[in-house]
Amino acid sequence: MARLVLAVMLLLNAAILCSGGITSEFVRLQESAVDMPLHADVFRMPPGYNAPQQVHITQGDHEGRSIIVSWITPSEKGSSTVFYGTSENKLDQHAEGTVTMYKFYTYTSGYIHHCVLTDLKYDRKYFYKVGEGSAARLFWFKTPPEVGPDVPYTFGLIGDLGQTFDSNVTLTHYESNPGGQAVLYVGDLSYADVYPDHDNVRWDTWGRFVERSTAYQPWIWTTGNHEIDYAPEIGEYVPFKPFTHRYHVPHKSSGSGSPFWYSIKRASAYIIVLASYSAFGKYTPQSEWLEQEFPKVNRSETPWLIVLMHSPLYNSYNYHYMEGETMRVMYEPLFVTYKVDVIFAGHVHAYERSYRISNVAYNITDGKCTPTSDLSAPVYITVGDGGNQEGLASSMTEPQPNYSAYREASFGHAIFGIKNRTHAYYNWYRNQDGNAVEADSLWFFNRVWNPREES
Ligand SMILES: *[C@@H]1O[C@H](CO)[C@@H](O)[C@H](O)[C@H]1NC(C)=O
Ligand SMILES: *[C@@H]1O[C@H](CO)[C@@H](O)[C@H](O)[C@H]1NC(C)=O
Ligand SMILES: *[C@@H]1O[C@H](CO)[C@@H](O)[C@H](O)[C@H]1NC(C)=O
Ligand SMILES: *[C@@H]1O[C@H](CO)[C@@H](O)[C@H](O)[C@H]1NC(C)=O
Ligand SMILES: *[C@@H]1O[C@H](CO)[C@@H](O)[C@H](O)[C@H]1NC(C)=O
Ligand SMILES: [Fe+2]
Repeated sequence: MARLVLAVMLLLNAAILCSGGITSEFVRLQESAVDMPLHADVFRMPPGYNAPQQVHITQGDHEGRSIIVSWITPSEKGSSTVFYGTSENKLDQHAEGTVTMYKFYTYTSGYIHHCVLTDLKYDRKYFYKVGEGSAARLFWFKTPPEVGPDVPYTFGLIGDLGQTFDSNVTLTHYESNPGGQAVLYVGDLSYADVYPDHDNVRWDTWGRFVERSTAYQPWIWTTGNHEIDYAPEIGEYVPFKPFTHRYHVPHKSSGSGSPFWYSIKRASAYIIVLASYSAFGKYTPQSEWLEQEFPKVNRSETPWLIVLMHSPLYNSYNYHYMEGETMRVMYEPLFVTYKVDVIFAGHVHAYERSYRISNVAYNITDGKCTPTSDLSAPVYITVGDGGNQEGLASSMTEPQPNYSAYREASFGHAIFGIKNRTHAYYNWYRNQDGNAVEADSLWFFNRVWNPREES
């Protein structure tokens, strides 16, 4: 009997080994993630009366020749003009923005400015100035190269950042990584909603904290559950109110009627942003848009097809388990049909990468409800490990499912570096002892131009 048990255990062990997935042995120091205090250096207001703060930029059109510049003036409306040009000393162009504000329970926002700079030249460094008189502030950004199939471009990936000391380490590590040219942000920004009455002051502190990156390179926004800010108990019934006032995206240029789902082209990538917290069932606006969107992607022009969403479709942690399942049932057949290269998500505060797998054969009666290896399917990556105050998701389902290639409960960020139409180098960095350590990496082979199996 004992021998039988042993034999069975050995078999089980072998099965686990056969699955090939890795659960990292790395154990991160388990101190809890603590929010930086309001007086922290990263939250400091810029000097000068009514100085613009929380400056951030994002792509402003479908092709990458436009930028939306946003900022907040705290005391009075001031100017919504952006002065810009390709030389620091000659800001010979200007654009007029708009101003908005909102109230949330007892909070009143500052003056929120959004200004679209259009007809920019590709592959240039632009300088821009916002604000007035001695409180004016100068920043710069680089436009992407013209859209084309072999244009190298490097994206950073950050999710669920929040505003803890760990968040600051994640952002510092991303900045110390010389490659990143734009950030694909997979949702959950400030976590203001975890404060009493969704204290919107924490939206402002977050905006000031990330300015050191968001003012200089576009962050491509995805909405997460912490952007919903639905609080009927204090009379706040309009979902996404703070987010939509503060963060604009170019949804109209991809024919989307909503800022929560849209697409952009950037260099050799086509990026589709989806909304986990807006209706996505059959006949909904998001679903209709997505069905029309995929056939428009021309892989000869943009070989790399990337999808962003907040809630992961494949996740083997004991957190938010199967929350992505309804969207998986709806959209996974499209992802496989249109050969999406990779899907990035957040939400689970840890890291995980899947093999190329799909679970699209199931039709309710055929019993084929197991994810199987599928070279037309995307790789699913969860990078909800920015460092927010809810802490790490460290409990995992056991054994590791065979679709999961690598998982680790550490804070960090990732880099997706496109080299040409066939190759992209992907790297996930964990935060460790003051350094960013390469902990998981993979050469991605494009699903249309090089559809081999990645090792
Ligand atoms: C945040 O990180 C920056 C850059 O490393 C550092 O200068 C700053 O002191 C840090 N602030 C806090 C509150 O940790
Ligand atoms: C797809 O892009 C290629 C390269 O830019 C172009 O030659 C071709 O005409 C495009 N196809 C369609 C259907 O637009
Ligand atoms: C489901 O799959 C089974 C087995 O392949 C097949 O016999 C059946 O017709 C399918 N049902 C539907 C509704 O497609
Ligand atoms: C996982 O294992 C099951 C059962 O052995 C198998 O049917 C399935 O194809 C495997 N999936 C992957 C992705 O290897
Ligand atoms: C594409 O990039 C990969 C990785 O850098 C390289 O090995 C390959 O030769 C490149 N392909 C072409 C056609 O240049
Ligand atoms: Fe989330």
